[in-house]
Amino acid sequence: PVLVVDYGAQYAQLIARRVREAQVYSEVVPHDISVEEIKHRNPAAVVLSGGPSSVYADGAPQVDPALFSAGVPVFGICYGFQAMISALGGAVEHTGTREYGRTELEISGDGGTLHAEMPGHHPVWMSHGDSVSKAPEGFEVTASTKDTPVAAFESVERQLAGVQYHPEVVHSPHGQEVLRRFLHDIAKVRPQWTTSSIVDDTVAAIREQIGDRRAICALSGGVDSAVAAALVQRAIGDQLTCVFVDHGLLRAGERAQVERDFVAATGVRLVTIDAVDRFLGELAGVTDPEEKRKIIGREFIRVFEQAARDLQAEAGEAGEQIDFLVQGTLYPDVVESGGGSGAANIKSHHNVGGLPDDLQFELVEPLRALFKDEVRRVGLELGLPETIVHRQPFPGPGLGIRIIGEVTADRLETLRAADAIAREELTAAGLDRDIWQCPVVLLADVRSVGVQGDGRTYGHPVVLRPVSSEDAMTADWTRLPYDVLERISTRITNEVSEVNRVTLDVTSKPPGTIEWE
Ligand code: XMP
Repeated sequence: PVLVVDYGAQYAQLIARRVREAQVYSEVVPHDISVEEIKHRNPAAVVLSGGPSSVYADGAPQVDPALFSAGVPVFGICYGFQAMISALGGAVEHTGTREYGRTELEISGDGGTLHAEMPGHHPVWMSHGDSVSKAPEGFEVTASTKDTPVAAFESVERQLAGVQYHPEVVHSPHGQEVLRRFLHDIAKVRPQWTTSSIVDDTVAAIREQIGDRRAICALSGGVDSAVAAALVQRAIGDQLTCVFVDHGLLRAGERAQVERDFVAATGVRLVTIDAVDRFLGELAGVTDPEEKRKIIGREFIRVFEQAARDLQAEAGEAGEQIDFLVQGTLYPDVVESGGGSGAANIKSHHNVGGLPDDLQFELVEPLRALFKDEVRRVGLELGLPETIVHRQPFPGPGLGIRIIGEVTADRLETLRAADAIAREELTAAGLDRDIWQCPVVLLADVRSVGVQGDGRTYGHPVVLRPVSSEDAMTADWTRLPYDVLERISTRITNEVSEVNRVTLDVTSKPPGTIEWE
């Protein structure tokens, strides 16, 4: 792999993704990794990421100069670039000036390998205090900026290079090309990480792990469990059984999407558990959001557990114990829970965490090395429908936490109808990729007066909650075009008899969360 050394900025994962966009497999490793360990991993190259520190700060993470004579190609970015310069004998100065944001890069000479034939001046994204004033002996300086005499350096012969700016962000329009040139032209790494190679390698690894034994997988209707299941199905066919729990809190068409479209695309063996009455029974009379969430989570595990036991019993009679549970854990979860390798750091999937001890499964996590965009590409490669592959986030507790008040079958029907209209119109307007998600919330205990036709109505409001976000940690309300809002509003009030008012939530997160409960 290419190892991306994380100096504690938020950029390491992004760099790792960009390396993969250059079709080279990458992993994030912590900055305290030793040169010995790095050599042991036999990396094709090492990328030193940016970080918040000054190289002169007390306790600033240093780069062991031994790395540069280890015979491994190294690319330094921002802090990594400065740490590299100072370890190689160049000069980093505490200038007191800060360069932050969009800056003009000036290419020197022919631009070397990294910047050849690029516009002589072009924008890059900067974020640093200290500046490199002198490159180490034997290196070519290929770019500068107004405040930084040395903004890029390289030695093709020694396979070492670096840039002061952040090539990984979109505000550096030539950044991806620079990274690609380092990987392909300086480090001479062959671009082999393609979607089809991911599929082939993962399928082979799953076969190796599971052999002729059996596995189960809980499908949620979401992207991750669907792609994980599809990969395992491709690897072991009918040795996999998928379980889909219909808790009655799904949106219109979602059960059909799994039962019909997903099965048609994959040929997976699927058991659907119809648990609608059970969930509604448990939710009767409950209005507190946390209590709803607890009940839904608890019942989900109970139902899945029972299904697993039943399947286990069936398989057991045939002498075919089920040994494996498939989970859709993604690479960012693995990195964030501190693991790179090693099974100790597994963060269990939200939907099926906490299975009891007498149901002991070995985990199969086919997406453990993948970022979300790679998961989607793998899904498409496996022939999964767009509706599943590009599905927007939808909470595990489903519509249960979008009805403010008690959850009943009638209210679910009302909300489902309103939600379907909003989704249809957003899709028709081509807005699905622009918004993160758009919950529709039913204020079931609120009524207001309206007029429809000649009659007075006394119906419920729904709230549209369109949000834009990168990661759901923060979000802004999306400025939807008025004509789209108008179509949604007109259709909902005409077509959903219980609803006589459509309102728009214009709160960012924070202070509001995305969901209302
Ligand atoms: P909040 O409401 O916390 O939501 O701003 C952030 C994101 O998480 C989704 N969400 C959930 N997803 N199980 C899930 O799988 C849950 O219990 C859950 N609650 C919220 C929400 O839709 C949004 O994308």
